Amino acid sequence: MLNGKRILLIVGGGIAAYKVLDLIRRIGRAGGHVTPVLTRAGSEFVTPLSLSALAGEKVYTDLWDLTDEAEMGHIQLSRVADLVVVAPATADLMAKMAQGHADDLASTLLLATDTPVMIAPAMNVRMWEHAATQRNLVTLKADGIAVVGPDVGDMACGEHGPGRMAEPEAILDSITARLSHGPMKGKHILITSGPTHEPIDPVRYIANRSSGAQGTAIARAAVAAGARVTFVTGPADVAPPEGCTVVRVETATQMRDAALAALPADVAIFAAAVADWRVTSASDRKMKKQDGALPSLELAENPDILAAVAGRTMDRPPLVVGFAAETDDVVENARAKRIRKGCDWIVANDVSPVTGIMGGSENAVLLITAEGEETWERMGKDAVAVRLIERIATALA
Ligand code: CTP
Repeated sequence: MLNGKRILLIVGGGIAAYKVLDLIRRIGRAGGHVTPVLTRAGSEFVTPLSLSALAGEKVYTDLWDLTDEAEMGHIQLSRVADLVVVAPATADLMAKMAQGHADDLASTLLLATDTPVMIAPAMNVRMWEHAATQRNLVTLKADGIAVVGPDVGDMACGEHGPGRMAEPEAILDSITARLSHGPMKGKHILITSGPTHEPIDPVRYIANRSSGAQGTAIARAAVAAGARVTFVTGPADVAPPEGCTVVRVETATQMRDAALAALPADVAIFAAAVADWRVTSASDRKMKKQDGALPSLELAENPDILAAVAGRTMDRPPLVVGFAAETDDVVENARAKRIRKGCDWIVANDVSPVTGIMGGSENAVLLITAEGEETWERMGKDAVAVRLIERIATALA
């Protein structure tokens, strides 16, 4: 139930705009309150009168309406809401959002808001599949914007494929989930994930077998628990989860800079498999074979990101969680690592090839805290993530 939650609903110009009337009715029945904003293109498909009749609210349509500005400035309008929903989100609106345009009321509100934003895209299948729209989608997701749909099906234009706006019922489900009171609501969690790539020359690099699966699962569980998540990821195999701010990096140094820039945070979780070494002077040209003479690579140790964050004085997160990937003497090494790196908890696992954990779908965890140790039974990485987030929520409560 939405219990008086306020939704600022931006209605874009698409045939799916008629479904928004049903969405407003459903939000109202679920106990939510809608303030509609209609774009000029949207007003070709639904009338301000039908929107305001269903919402029981004034419809905002024009940025330069001086009466509106006097009543409620556009910045304030965008901020009093608990969630901004764009439905239908046309290709044009998505492009404006990705580029940060502010040339009408809807785009200005979207740029000025500090409330979470959700979009329900709707457009012709070719427009949806176009490289430009897909590029914008990646940008919007990385900006932390939640995306619901589009569905696959027959479209008003006679084509078939992805592009239909999600059904009002599904949009309402996503709104309800997004506004739920998870145990991590209001908390900012920094998560590092995936491997790092350390260049040798433009085509070669040092890397490791991390897929990013465990860090991604933790981020997903944290978002589901209501946290605001900054997800700093190296080049991983798995796609980052929706609903978090994604910062993509390549090298350990970039990951360190991104992690420090994300502070302050209530919790920092270091699930990344950071390369321990980098090549001191990576060549900017491809290295060539030289009649059997072997190249020698001079290595330097990478910055320890976990230790750097755990050692901060002014903005150290109250809970710093590291991982320990070990192949021998797991318990002793992980205990020592917790002390050496100055973190509060260590999630230790045995990454010997026989365990199949590194790059696999399961994990067997030993949680080491200042109070003692807990052995968790072997389970899927998603289940480990949920348990870890529950454990953290309890510790923060
Ligand atoms: N870590 C980090 N920055 C590094 C190396 C590791 O933030 N440069 C973090 C990892 O994300 C993990 C923890 O430190 O949370 C331990 O990583 P691990 O690879 O197990 O330890 P190492 O520091 O590499 O130590 P060792 O080589 O002795 O095992």
